[in-house]
Amino acid sequence: MEVSQASLQIIADLLAERTGQHLTENRRWRIGTALAGLFREHGISNVDQLVCLLAQPGSSPYGPDLAQEVVEALLNNETYFFRDKPTFDQLPEHVLPELARRRASRRRLSIWCAGCSTGQEVYSLAMLFADQVEQWDGWTIDILGTDVSHSAITAARSGLYSQFEVQRGLGIAQMLRHFEESARGWEIAQATRSIVRFLHHNVLSRPPARQPFDLILCRNVLLYFDPPTRQIAFDRLRAALATDGFLMLGAGETVVGQTRAFLPSEDRASIYEAVPDERVYAKLANAL
Ligand SMILES: C[S@@+](CC[C@H](N)C(=O)[O-])C[C@H]1O[C@@H](n2cnc3c(N)ncnc32)[C@H](O)[C@@H]1O
Repeated sequence: MEVSQASLQIIADLLAERTGQHLTENRRWRIGTALAGLFREHGISNVDQLVCLLAQPGSSPYGPDLAQEVVEALLNNETYFFRDKPTFDQLPEHVLPELARRRASRRRLSIWCAGCSTGQEVYSLAMLFADQVEQWDGWTIDILGTDVSHSAITAARSGLYSQFEVQRGLGIAQMLRHFEESARGWEIAQATRSIVRFLHHNVLSRPPARQPFDLILCRNVLLYFDPPTRQIAFDRLRAALATDGFLMLGAGETVVGQTRAFLPSEDRASIYEAVPDERVYAKLANAL
């Protein structure tokens, strides 16, 4: 049955309003596919019926959470351990040694993974520190993972992954070093998880506490923001980053031509530094 364009528009607007993610017309075919499981679960026949139910949340048997369920189903949560390895490797090879020098007197690092999905990116970072335990002895490392998806954050907090998930990006030795196998799956080891925490958060809203961060990863999140929304996200990230900190984007993302808040870091792909105009950004941070 043909679904009306108006219904698809309403669902795309709902997603944009709650997350900033922009479903352009040529990507709206995704809506039916992404919502298939939710339709099955609730016995909903199509997007038109869903839109009718959303219009009357008070009397809907699915309650006010139906809209949030729709949003969660439409978010792209694709992630895996050590994603885009050549890019990720710049962290242990260049960025973390440089931050170790810059923070040598304070011996504290605060890291934010914005849009961390189900946690693989955060635990990949935690594994880097756990594998260099002597080098970071005496340091306080704090890695915060945030995502706008409640279900992703719940999964991340559990630290529990299937065989398929641990095999994506991890070698056998890493799996055995950082995970414990149980009947429930593979659970991240306590020592590795002790430096991470997770929070539900929208990157377009006021940055989480514990800023300024020394390093922010925001990878494969900004891709589907429209340019004005992306600009808001860059301003939020810039306000939360230490003036001498680093931002890492996804392999296919850049700040070039998108914002004046960051500049590429020398010739390191996907690594950016804050534009050193402290007055402008101190003002911005106060206004957030
Ligand atoms: C494709 S995943 C990327 C995960 C991880 N950063 C990586 O690169 O493997 C994008 C994540 O961004 C989250 N996201 C989308 N819009 C967001 C927003 N406005 N604020 C925070 N997270 C958001 C999604 O829920 C999803 O989990």
